[in-house]
Amino acid sequence: MIQLKNISKELTEAGSRVPILQNINLTITKGEYISIMGPSGSGKSTLMNILGTLDTPTSGEYLFEGINISRLRGSKLADFRNRRLGFVFQSYMLIPRLSVRDNVELPLLYTTKSRKEREKRIHMALEQVGMLHKAKEPTMNLSGGQKQKIAIARAIINDPELLLADEPSGNLDVHSKDDILQIFQTLNDSGKTIVLVTHDREVALTAKRMLTLRNGAWADPAAEVVARA
Ligand SMILES: Nc1ncnc2c1ncn2[C@@H]1O[C@H](COP(=O)(O)OP(=O)(O)OP(=O)(O)O)[C@@H](O)[C@H]1O
Ligand SMILES: [Mg+2]
Repeated sequence: MIQLKNISKELTEAGSRVPILQNINLTITKGEYISIMGPSGSGKSTLMNILGTLDTPTSGEYLFEGINISRLRGSKLADFRNRRLGFVFQSYMLIPRLSVRDNVELPLLYTTKSRKEREKRIHMALEQVGMLHKAKEPTMNLSGGQKQKIAIARAIINDPELLLADEPSGNLDVHSKDDILQIFQTLNDSGKTIVLVTHDREVALTAKRMLTLRNGAWADPAAEVVARA
């Protein structure tokens, strides 16, 4: 489904080049659930942002279902990102004053779905995260765990092929963390491909495949090998 070939990322700081990612290879098969661990500054978010097309590599190739992502630009790239990828961040990234329903609807507003279809999808997504009863609530009234459930509902509203989660439980208590991990598990059981970044070994262990980054490269050279089916 996804292939990263020799992905490198460099930043230029005060005239000198700083390597962030070095020759990263990764093959992701449909239906996988991958966790990425690694120390702070090892490049986890940078790699996630490249997978999410929010950042571009300095060199290397990113193939998604045969599409060469580096050739996509502008509205084509935005459309790809909106329809085929879902994002969950540590800080939720919800709009506080909007209702739960309206937050979840946001990615649908860039599609041509009818009002009826939109309502159906919002209902289904909120049901999947157990938050249907909060639909009319302003998002700012919710707890952290509830906000993250809403963020997941928003991330899956367009039924993306790939779900990317960067420290999704980083701000949550143990109970909410378990809830969120259970939702990811259920999504993966129903076929959703998931890549999750975490500092938390316990969280990482819930994935089917664990990878570790160290100084912008895989800590385990076997990491880039295709996962067990
Ligand atoms: N915009 C930027 N400008 C300068 N340096 C950056 C920028 N973005 C990232 N870096 C550097 O790149 C390296 C990797 O950052 P990245 O955010 O990917 O790490 P991370 O593994 O996600 O860390 P954390 O666990 O703290 O979230 C770090 O050394 C960071 O300082
Ligand atoms: Mg990070």
